Amino acid sequence: MDINVFDYTEQILKAVKNGVLLTSKADGKVNTMAISWGMIGIEWNKPVFITVVRESRYTKEFIDKSGVFTVNIPVESTDPAFIKKVIAHCGSKSGRDTDKIADMGFTLTDGVTVDSPAIKELPLTLECKVVYKQRQDEPMPEGLQSFYAGGDLHTAYYGEITAAYIL
Ligand SMILES: Cc1cc2nc3c(=O)[nH]c(=O)nc-3n(C[C@H](O)[C@H](O)[C@H](O)COP(=O)(O)O)c2cc1C
Repeated sequence: MDINVFDYTEQILKAVKNGVLLTSKADGKVNTMAISWGMIGIEWNKPVFITVVRESRYTKEFIDKSGVFTVNIPVESTDPAFIKKVIAHCGSKSGRDTDKIADMGFTLTDGVTVDSPAIKELPLTLECKVVYKQRQDEPMPEGLQSFYAGGDLHTAYYGEITAAYIL
């Protein structure tokens, strides 16, 4: 079912706060990671999802290569224990060391507008094409420095939402 992302913004952002997945595909391989920071808005007259990805993430290499990603979001009927398990695993293990899609037993379906998949088990899907990216350079304002004690800065990826649906 296609959705208007602005009818679902509250639901999506509440889910993001608890943890959702950011998935991308490059060189025929799919990787996913947990995110809990993100924004939905409008720029350049386009609906955008902005995700902030640290330099160390394997996911960053995928998005830089492919220029696309999907956001995979649970819905009300998704089992909270399953969400917890997914976010714990996909938010602590790197795709460099393990195949998180296989570990979780996810069922993938091809994206409609991007070459990055939707995940049946986290059915609310945003398909995004990166239209702009910006590294959040130092010096960080004083109140934010504690987030970057070890460096590892974020890059903000502005993904135009090219499709939004619930599988
Ligand atoms: C709840 C939760 C939220 C997270 N949010 C983000 C985020 O918004 N941005 C980010 O770069 N990393 C975030 N992480 C960390 C990544 O998910 C984690 O480092 C992951 O193992 C990276 O996987 P990768 O190396 O396969 O890309 C989060 C982790 C958790 C547990």
